[in-house]
Amino acid sequence: MGAGDAIGAGTLREFHARSIADREGFWREQAALIDWHAPFERVLDYSKPPFTRWFVGGRTNLCHNAVDRHLAARRDQPALIFVSTETDTERVFTFGELHREVVRMAAIMRELGVRRGDRVLIYMPMIPEAAFAMLACARIGAIHSVVFGGFASHSLASRIDDASPVLVVSADAGSRAGKVVPYKPLLDAAIDMAGNKPANVLMVDRGLAPFERVAGRDRDYAALRERHLDAEVPVEWLESNEVSYTLYTSGTTGVPKGVQRDVGGHAVALAASMKYIFCGNPGETYFSTSDIGWVVGHSYIVYGPLIAGMATIMYEGTPLRPDAGILWQLVEKYRVTVMFSAPTAIRVLKKQDPSWLSRHDLSSLRTLFLAGEPLDEPTARWIGEALGKPIVDNYWQTETGWPILTVAHGVEKTPTRLGSPGMPMYGYDLRLLHEQTGEEVGVNEKGVVAIVPPLPPGCMQTVWGDDERFVKTYFSTIPGKLVYSTFDWGIRDEDGYYFILGRTDDVINVAGHRLGTREIEESLSSHQAVAECAVVGVADSLKGQVAMAFVVLKDPARVAAPEARMALEGELMATVDKQLGAVARPSRVHFVTLLPKTRSGKVLRRSIQAICEARDPGDLTTIEDPGALEQLRRAVGLEA
Ligand code: PRX
Repeated sequence: MGAGDAIGAGTLREFHARSIADREGFWREQAALIDWHAPFERVLDYSKPPFTRWFVGGRTNLCHNAVDRHLAARRDQPALIFVSTETDTERVFTFGELHREVVRMAAIMRELGVRRGDRVLIYMPMIPEAAFAMLACARIGAIHSVVFGGFASHSLASRIDDASPVLVVSADAGSRAGKVVPYKPLLDAAIDMAGNKPANVLMVDRGLAPFERVAGRDRDYAALRERHLDAEVPVEWLESNEVSYTLYTSGTTGVPKGVQRDVGGHAVALAASMKYIFCGNPGETYFSTSDIGWVVGHSYIVYGPLIAGMATIMYEGTPLRPDAGILWQLVEKYRVTVMFSAPTAIRVLKKQDPSWLSRHDLSSLRTLFLAGEPLDEPTARWIGEALGKPIVDNYWQTETGWPILTVAHGVEKTPTRLGSPGMPMYGYDLRLLHEQTGEEVGVNEKGVVAIVPPLPPGCMQTVWGDDERFVKTYFSTIPGKLVYSTFDWGIRDEDGYYFILGRTDDVINVAGHRLGTREIEESLSSHQAVAECAVVGVADSLKGQVAMAFVVLKDPARVAAPEARMALEGELMATVDKQLGAVARPSRVHFVTLLPKTRSGKVLRRSIQAICEARDPGDLTTIEDPGALEQLRRAVGLEA
């Protein structure tokens, strides 16, 4: 499935129009990109809106499509390339070797009592065993739920409680910028906190951080692997709509949602995106700098590239160590053709000596894809010129699993436009709607980016265990219309290019990491000194946004002295670190004696954010006490 095959499929606009007008015909064709054990009876079942079932009755398996299917043609070709600049390790697993390791892992899971439909929580650094575990779950029909290694015990506990896993797969530690980050103590604390305790914990011991084993619960991966070296574990042929995984993501409330994905639609959507959007060919190398704890890691480190028969690089390390050329060194060494990163990583590189970009042979690289947060024009221009390669922005969400807006060079060589992620992708009936009236807005007018259901294959099926929350959260925000809200603002120009203007809800995006301000507020409020608080996302030139906290203390006199203020600020940050992880830590904690609220008591977060960014806070006629704004201005160093 080369990029070239698709040219002639028509222009992107026609391609898109057909995907909406003839959904069944369009996706029936795409379904041929993967292997089916038994054919589907119906392409689409949309009898219970907004719930969507794709390829009903079809039987397939993600692990088969990612691994086994390629054995005949490329058993000895690279499949998983593991590089850790943290531990100075490089290991290449061919498709044959990857298959072996996945089967061994599947056999271990079986021995530990994991059955089809059971949940397995994966809390791991970027090591090959994490990918083995994901693929092993897919193989036996267990549902994996990967929790980002940067999250701490409280975040982990709430996910354990919601997923009620029978097994947790973890490791002694990760490593970041040369510093060992122990995982096991956080995991032990999380399991202590959780109501639903897993029967077993499978520990990969990297020898980085000594840890205590809980007798009867903690199992040693290396020892169990030895017992299953020659195991045979056939794939379970799953009905297309069985659950492949859940991945927790933040929204407006303090409780993360388990985004639930299917099997068949997921595999077809990723295979199609590899063909039309990423233009990756079998035998080539794909390099995504994301983490398996995020959706980009699921779709474009593990499943997408492997389904396409590509080798995929799994990288544990930062873009700056051992030097600022490391990413390009890997591109050269492994002849990477398709690369995927986030704007923050590029902004980090932009601060380094630009010659790092010209020291390596980048002739293999065709395109650099960037996603996860807004790509600002200067960064896009800088990296495009420095690399001399096309830069393709793409906009999507954990919920959709693959790009909503981008250009699809496998369909048509549509030019990119700086500042715009592009145009709606096939399958997405995208609209920009007025927040209150639900009417479509005109050209160059701001509206909520919404998708008219049915959602295409690969998108979330529901919220794990909570169909009602799925409908209420995503399909009930536009009055009188059953449409999916992305919770992003957007505009469209006269040529059909979209621009994303930020979130409509309280989700913030720090260095491409999606965080809920409400979770951070709840964590701060758990400190006994805090009466109430508000957290907002504030523009930052490096990370896109940072979290800024405003805290009202039960006893304001407590921070009268500057040393006391600094000490308490540190304590509150440490509380967030401990509960949620350093990734969620506010960049500053400001102490105030009141927060700007409406007369009905609603905190005016958008006004707080505007003040922090030195913008006009908008209509403040509903504010209860204008003195709150003056305090805010003073706190962030802006005069009233
Ligand atoms: O606000 C949008 C922003 O990130 C959100 C989704 O984050 P997450 O669920 O972590 O999925 C990331 C998948 C790439 C979106 O609602 N976002 C993502 N990509 C872009 C973006 N904002 C602007 N431009 C993008 N390319």
